[in-house]
Amino acid sequence: MSNLEQTLSIIKPDAVERNLDNEIKEIFKNKGFKIVDEKKIQIEKSEAEKFYKVHETKPFYNDLCSYLSSGPIVVMILEKENAVIANRELMGATNPTEAEEGTIRKKFGISIDKNSVHGSDSIENAKIEIEFFFKD
Ligand code: CMP
Repeated sequence: MSNLEQTLSIIKPDAVERNLDNEIKEIFKNKGFKIVDEKKIQIEKSEAEKFYKVHETKPFYNDLCSYLSSGPIVVMILEKENAVIANRELMGATNPTEAEEGTIRKKFGISIDKNSVHGSDSIENAKIEIEFFFKD
């Protein structure tokens, strides 16, 4: 049965700064993801705080929000069968040192903060995150 889904992907400042955005987009496309919409933007810290609100009680919340707003990012709507889980598998573990070979975070991630990409963690959050960046 077809289970076409959309998920939100962010290419984070560490990867955009190293001009890895096109290479990362090619990886998604080669794995069968369609980039339905995309934009390169820089967000305010207050917007990052809203985006990462689920993490507001975590000790790393402030640094995380400063980081996401520290430079340009590329936000994308990715579409594929079971896109949420497929994207999470392709990204690899949050901490690049724990990510498996062949994953984006293993290949490009620098640290748990500078882990090159974000992806929605559930179908419900994918809808919220897509709406957050592409509401118009
Ligand atoms: P991301 O998938 O964008 O979601 C939240 C981010 O918080 C995560 O990737 C990491 O980059 C960052 N982060 C920093 N410290 C931690 C931590 N201890 N556990 C989980 N995420 C962390």
